[in-house]
Amino acid sequence: MPRTPTTVTRPPAEHQAPAPDSDLFLQRTIDALSPHIAILGEAGEILMVNRAWREFTRGNEPEATEAGLGHKYLDVCRAAAGIDDQAWQIHEGITALLSGGRSEFHLDYGIDAIEGRRRFALRATRLAGAGPTRVVIAHEDVTQLERADDRLRHLLIQHHTQEDETRRHLARELHDVTAQKLVAACLLIAKADRVIGDDEPAISKSIAEARTLMEESLSEIRSLSYLFHPPLLEELGLAAAMRAYLDGFGQRTAIAMQAEIASDLPRLMRAAEMAFYRVLQEALGNVYRHAKSPVVIVRLYRHEAKTRLEVEDRGIGITGAMADGRLDPARAGVGLLAMKMRMEQIGGDIEVRTGAGGTRVCAVLPDRAWAGSLAPVSPARK
Ligand SMILES: Nc1ncnc2c1ncn2[C@@H]1O[C@H](COP(=O)(O)OP(=O)(O)OP(=O)(O)O)[C@@H](O)[C@H]1O
Ligand SMILES: [Mg+2]
Repeated sequence: MPRTPTTVTRPPAEHQAPAPDSDLFLQRTIDALSPHIAILGEAGEILMVNRAWREFTRGNEPEATEAGLGHKYLDVCRAAAGIDDQAWQIHEGITALLSGGRSEFHLDYGIDAIEGRRRFALRATRLAGAGPTRVVIAHEDVTQLERADDRLRHLLIQHHTQEDETRRHLARELHDVTAQKLVAACLLIAKADRVIGDDEPAISKSIAEARTLMEESLSEIRSLSYLFHPPLLEELGLAAAMRAYLDGFGQRTAIAMQAEIASDLPRLMRAAEMAFYRVLQEALGNVYRHAKSPVVIVRLYRHEAKTRLEVEDRGIGITGAMADGRLDPARAGVGLLAMKMRMEQIGGDIEVRTGAGGTRVCAVLPDRAWAGSLAPVSPARK
């Protein structure tokens, strides 16, 4: 039976997709993307911009005509308020792209736009091929992301402050109240034991067991109180507190500890010593839980006007590092991010290097962070 011919309904010409290699196709494609996009020619002149670029330019530079088309991109950048100080970096980057010296260039920058301060991530890529050189520049608005990041940082800092306060409070309660009551109970029980003497061996046995349990609880409460708020840190400073902590950690975990702690370190402000101490605890906790390392090397020293704490293991390493072994702590787990936040809170930072040979977490605090508004603590502080 002959087939009924099917009728193909074509969309009207204006709705048809342009040919994939046409300028119109390219224009529609970049118009569909949200970053502000410009395509530059060989001399850095703007050949094409997308809708987001045009709308942003219209809002912020109403007098600009044609969104900079035909102008040199670098001149447009210089004219943009607020990024003059970064214009040289953009100049270097784009010049290198146009001359073929590099194929990609990234820069994060801020500008004062009509709706307030905004942050942008600039990504420029040279298109390699047989035709003339083209550079695609995309400015992505990352203001919301940055705000969310700032809020997260603020919350984490608040969380740390509250956590330190709660720990200090708990440590004091445990040490001054609960432990003292247990000591008193032990004394009373010892007295009862003496009164009973050898007359009631069954009761004496129970009393002896109760005493053992109470002494164990007392020792647990003291270690807990020490962990929550190390008294040596306040009294003798970071180096002494670290030595004591490392001894205990080595005994508890059977990981070989090597401590290289400089003997001539000045006292730091209380918050800085606490931050270093917490980083040590957290980093050692990670070695214990994740690294599978037989050894940890802990160094505390000063170098080039910075105090540095390094916790290095010979374990399995952390995945996700860059080719040179650096790992952004902000992109790892909450523990590493918290270490970074703690150090940033006092004007320092965390550097992580990792690989198949192990991991090194380094907390750095420049002197200038505590030499000005944050006065160093005198060695006589008690
Ligand atoms: N020294 C290390 N060696 C090997 N892997 C590690 C080491 N430190 C961290 N990691 C890996 O990195 C991840 C992130 O560590 P991070 O301390 O941020 O979080 P966490 O330890 O998993 O959780 P938390 O610290 O919040 O309890 C870990 O889950 C682990 O896989
Ligand atoms: Mg951790």
